[in-house]
Amino acid sequence: PSVNQPYRTGFHFQPPKNWMNDPNGPMIYKGIYHLFYQWNPKGAVWGNIVWAHSTSTDLINWEPHPPAIFPSEPFDINGCWSGSVTILPNGKPVILYTGIDPKNQQVQNIAEPKNISDPYLREWTKSTLNPLMAPDAVNGINASSFRDPTTAWLGQDKKWRVIIGSKINRRGLAITYTSKDFLKWEKSPEPLHYDDGSGMWECPDFFPVTRSGSKGVETSSFGEPNEIKHVLKVSLDDTKHDYYTIGTYDRVKDKFVPDSGFKMDGTAPRYDYGKYYASKTFYDSAKSRRILWGWTNESSSVDDDVEKGWSGIQTIPRKIWLDRSGKQLIQWPVREVERLRTKEVKNLRNKVLKSGSRLEVYGVTAAQADVEVLFKVRDLEKADVIDPSWTDPQLICSQMNVSVKSSFGPFGLMVLASKNLEEYTSVYFRIFKARQNSGKFVVVMCSDQSRSSLEEDNDKTTYGAFVDINPYKPIPLRALIDHSVVESFGGKGRACITSRVYPKLAIGKSSHLFAFNYGSQSVDVLNLNAWSMNSAQIS
Ligand code: FRU
Repeated sequence: PSVNQPYRTGFHFQPPKNWMNDPNGPMIYKGIYHLFYQWNPKGAVWGNIVWAHSTSTDLINWEPHPPAIFPSEPFDINGCWSGSVTILPNGKPVILYTGIDPKNQQVQNIAEPKNISDPYLREWTKSTLNPLMAPDAVNGINASSFRDPTTAWLGQDKKWRVIIGSKINRRGLAITYTSKDFLKWEKSPEPLHYDDGSGMWECPDFFPVTRSGSKGVETSSFGEPNEIKHVLKVSLDDTKHDYYTIGTYDRVKDKFVPDSGFKMDGTAPRYDYGKYYASKTFYDSAKSRRILWGWTNESSSVDDDVEKGWSGIQTIPRKIWLDRSGKQLIQWPVREVERLRTKEVKNLRNKVLKSGSRLEVYGVTAAQADVEVLFKVRDLEKADVIDPSWTDPQLICSQMNVSVKSSFGPFGLMVLASKNLEEYTSVYFRIFKARQNSGKFVVVMCSDQSRSSLEEDNDKTTYGAFVDINPYKPIPLRALIDHSVVESFGGKGRACITSRVYPKLAIGKSSHLFAFNYGSQSVDVLNLNAWSMNSAQIS
């Protein structure tokens, strides 16, 4: 970030310039993390898409390399779109990606490293057998809805499987292909899964999670349902959000069966309830964890993107695992990001936030910070009863903005705030009783951008999520603040909201951080730790 570029991030991944969208083919190879991404070499708007490439030893500091894949052959001459890496049993990584052919048809191609002894895998060779999968007159695939191959997994029969996102009319589907040699692929008669009302499924991801603990497992891992569950995630083109369902994978029928209560459409839970799309996981064999990458688009106008010369960031990679309940996923920024923490502010312990009060956190670079706070509420019997028709957390957050008082809430953080609060983004909780005398509570987490900037031209949508926690216990909130992005984690990763904001006043040293409580009941801050963050080495 600089005076001319106040919105560039200090530790979130972004290219030196131009447009970026989906993360592609994340992996670890010979101890080095690779990230490819959809990039326009020619400007700050989408187009001319290539696979740009960077590597890292810690997922935070990155070294750029020349684009790994760019249009060069008939099977990808109009674009090299999203795809994934599979590490073959001999240790060799291969890329499957979507190419756009001269007729603007979407086809699937393979690329292999030119030299596997180069840990940076700087050069890639496209197979002359490409395209490996193509829509044709007999297979009934829509040539403009056939893209984004996943990491492949091995079945019992030693055949590889991969899914491709697609749609037929309003039916979103994950088409399965199988192969013995990774080169000759055959379309399965049945998709892995589909949903009739959901529209196009972009960037599917399909992976196993363990029922115990937070360790990740390799993509081909399989086990009994009491040991391993499977996750199907899709990016719904219609709503531009990433949704997941948890279920079982029947590997004889090659069918994914969501657990009861899950439906693979816009009613499914989201990875992130803010701006977050086209995400993808990989198994980090060095640290036995599964890591999630996701793209966060701008909330400013296209004119602003062109003027600043860039668009799009990646969120901090998150470790992702199954909650003990088996009913939701948990996400937490990779530990490596904590190495950027410096100058800790630790003087905020056991403070009472009275109704209507604010507490400034001094001594932290508030525009580039990591904040962890633990709230505690008392006398929960005084909580308001939620209106039973309030089933959409985003609506609750936008209809009851930060100035509306509940018994409990809003309380939380004001980030990227100007000194006199002409501008601020508030990330906060409200707690309601589920019903009178039920002993059950509803915890809502909001990220309100409506006051984030004096500039009018931005998308300032308010976001909201339910957080499945017990409010009798301390209520944790973490925020990663980085100039124009706020990544918030409620309940230790049970609800995540990422927002983009563009303050005019609250930039650089003029940015402030507060804890606040505008609810009518007092709230305790058991503990608040804030760290100034060093910048990462990125471009
Ligand atoms: C998702 C997406 C993918 C496609 C790529 C093109 O954002 O539309 O479906 O492969 O972006 O850049």
